[in-house]
Amino acid sequence: MHDQLKDRTIFITGSGGVLGSTYVRRMLAQGARVIASDLPGHRADALKDAHGDNPDFRFYDLDVGNEDQVTEIFQRVLRDGWQPNVVLNNAAITGELLMGAGKPFPSFADTSVSDWERTLRTNLTGAFMVARQMDRDIVGKWPCALINVASMYALNGPHHAIYEGMPFKSFSAYSTTKAGIHGLTLWLAGYWAPHKATVNTIAPGAVFNGHSDEFQRRVGELIMVGRMAQPDEIADAMLFLCSAQAGYMTGQLVNVDGGFSGW
Ligand SMILES: NC(=O)c1ccc[n+]([C@@H]2O[C@H](COP(=O)([O-])OP(=O)(O)OC[C@H]3O[C@@H](n4cnc5c(N)ncnc54)[C@H](O)[C@@H]3O)[C@@H](O)[C@H]2O)c1
Repeated sequence: MHDQLKDRTIFITGSGGVLGSTYVRRMLAQGARVIASDLPGHRADALKDAHGDNPDFRFYDLDVGNEDQVTEIFQRVLRDGWQPNVVLNNAAITGELLMGAGKPFPSFADTSVSDWERTLRTNLTGAFMVARQMDRDIVGKWPCALINVASMYALNGPHHAIYEGMPFKSFSAYSTTKAGIHGLTLWLAGYWAPHKATVNTIAPGAVFNGHSDEFQRRVGELIMVGRMAQPDEIADAMLFLCSAQAGYMTGQLVNVDGGFSGW
């Protein structure tokens, strides 16, 4: 099947990451129009290099923490002639992103308010602002869907011991924002239901992205299927949530975590 998303125009934040770039590739292959967005930089450039020639692909610079940019984004897309009917709140400050930027992982006691607030600004306030703009510009005008991206660390605590000696850690603000984003899903689902807009959360598990054998072994022991996910395995569920086949689902949290949350 190559037309699962043929009637979908999908707007994605943070599209250049390991999962976002996989979603973009898979969505285009299923007939969607894809409106990718991310911070300017090498991830955005790689995405434009890969898909810039595809007439079903467009890219916009967007910092989800910047209120002015978020306020304008859908009007810009609409002026350019496309009407998004699926929106993915996918952008986040992640452990892997901080590791890649050479950031330290302070203890909880040493976590600064500014680091905490920076994560909340992107992961939670950014998601709120994108949803609020969707409410202003899209909801009620045509049927649509919002998918908020949480994590296996939204409603489950991390096993801190698996991060000992690793170059990245789980951090408190991340888990807090991932729990919070599902609160936004639950609040909005009933609010938007009369307007033919659905809202769901996807909670991906641990996705392989070059992690060491030792980390894979430690985390694998906590996962029913015994291993990390490939990005395409998360995309399989994401594509379904973006499709017309998910039309009767709203207010749900979909765990795609190899059974991590199911013990
Ligand atoms: N990879 C995993 O194991 C995993 C597991 C659970 C949940 N998730 C979630 O899935 C989503 C995608 O994760 P990923 O693995 O692709 O992460 P990633 O770190 O590879 O990519 C995150 C993307 O968000 C972008 N971003 C960061 N700050 C931004 C901002 N202010 N405005 C716009 N974009 C911004 C980054 O540029 C990057 O492209 C995230 O919400 C993440 O929390 C990932």
